Amino acid sequence: MSFFNHRTDEYGGSLENRLRFAREVVEAIHAGAGDDFPVQLRFSPKSMIKDFGVGAMPGETFTEMGRDMDEGIEAARLLVSYGYEALDVDVGSYDSWYWSHPPMYQAKGLYVPYARQLHEACPEIPLIVAGRMDDPELAAAATADGTATLISLARPTLADPEIVNKLQRGRRDLVRPCISCQEGCIGRIEHYSSLRCAVNPLAARETERPLPQASDRTRMRVLIIGGGVAGMEAARVLAERGHTPVLHEASDRLGGVVIAGGQPSFKEDDLALIAWYERQLEDLGVEVHLNSPVDAEVIRASGADHVLVATGSTPRLLDLGEGVPVVEATDALLDQDALGKQVVIIGGGLTGCELAISLRERGVEVTIVEALADVLEKNAPLCMANHVMLHDLVSYRGIEVLAGARAEHVTAAGLLVSVDGDQRLIPAQTVVTAIGYTPRHELETEVKAAGIPYHVIGDARRCANIMYAIWDGFEVASQLAK
Ligand SMILES: Cc1cc2nc3c(=O)[nH]c(=O)nc-3n(C[C@H](O)[C@H](O)[C@H](O)COP(=O)(O)O)c2cc1C
Ligand code: SF4
Repeated sequence: MSFFNHRTDEYGGSLENRLRFAREVVEAIHAGAGDDFPVQLRFSPKSMIKDFGVGAMPGETFTEMGRDMDEGIEAARLLVSYGYEALDVDVGSYDSWYWSHPPMYQAKGLYVPYARQLHEACPEIPLIVAGRMDDPELAAAATADGTATLISLARPTLADPEIVNKLQRGRRDLVRPCISCQEGCIGRIEHYSSLRCAVNPLAARETERPLPQASDRTRMRVLIIGGGVAGMEAARVLAERGHTPVLHEASDRLGGVVIAGGQPSFKEDDLALIAWYERQLEDLGVEVHLNSPVDAEVIRASGADHVLVATGSTPRLLDLGEGVPVVEATDALLDQDALGKQVVIIGGGLTGCELAISLRERGVEVTIVEALADVLEKNAPLCMANHVMLHDLVSYRGIEVLAGARAEHVTAAGLLVSVDGDQRLIPAQTVVTAIGYTPRHELETEVKAAGIPYHVIGDARRCANIMYAIWDGFEVASQLAK
């Protein structure tokens, strides 16, 4: 790419020179391993770079500063002529990281349109296509029209190493979905710790410690209070170990706060994750009680050997006085159509920003009021690709951000805020508060009083994210013993 490569020797200048290193690599492999040894290359025919460190948004019209498709097609032909058997196509670069490592804000199959252009220009080159290809219909369509010779699944195999076997058996319902959060995988590698997966706590440690199985003597009856992901994961693992989990959920659905979090169009895999847990718990024969709030009496009568308090969190609220309706973010996510055409969101964390984008997709005018200097300042570290893409999307989608601003009170016309000592009214039909959550574990007192051993897990212990809730459920349930 001439954007980066300014060399004046035989490795710079013409395209052939810039591809010389890749040529020498494949030639050396063939010299050592034989000409019939197949070598494939991960290859990005387009860079999606607007400037150093600045990526382009999906669908954005921009001047490509890196490699564009014309050069990509020419380079592909040259690379194959040098001896590469196949090209493993993605798009993006380190300067547009959210293409190389696509968060949930990217479409499924995001590389397919670029692979298709490459395929149409050079149909003789076998292409491998990655990038959120875990939708079997999408993958089948990309192979059926010849675009992809092979489909590559990276993160989906971390989330569920059996994905291909399950799809082959027609059992998509058994596939644990990758939610493209990148919390456990690339996000952890970024911070120089080992690779894991948010939804599959055993990823990359499969052989570390097989789950200890219960015997008739050691089998425990475990009361799980709360059917969010922490409670469901604990129930799943306990049932797999041969224990008897009994799960009580106060509402009429399993999923907890992830139900609300999964409402935006780009969070479909969060809902698929809940569906996966429901299927697992059913298949494992877990006793699940919906519409079943737990109190001291239920705890005492449970006959449980152990209790897991997985009651989640409560949203922080603000008293903003009388005026337009003030709705908490979880409720707002669940009923977005009721918010009107002008919405102010107080709090530019992950929840506030995702809600803002979801509302923009519905044509709503959105302003985020953030007390800190910028949005997404306060969240637990997100994978850089997710952080930067969400941050860029907020401005790209035309969401107004009022940073360093304090919400004062609502009026009949909207929200009054103070910024740098000035007061300003932001017109709104609804004001949404997205200012975080606090652990909800009041039942701990009742469990203690009943004298039953217990653990508090998930958001009830510490408000975090799906990964930490699942990992909490797994860690406790995998080790629990009489
Ligand atoms: C932990 C991890 C490490 C990766 N390392 C590389 C890499 O070294 N080179 C590369 O081209 N892509 C790398 N990728 C990107 C994947 O090859 C793949 O293109 C991307 O994750 C999108 O496909 P997927 O949705 O199937 O995961 C990595 C992805 C993950 C999750
Ligand atoms: S950590 Fe998240 S993105 Fe990475 S494989 Fe697991 S679910 Fe997918």
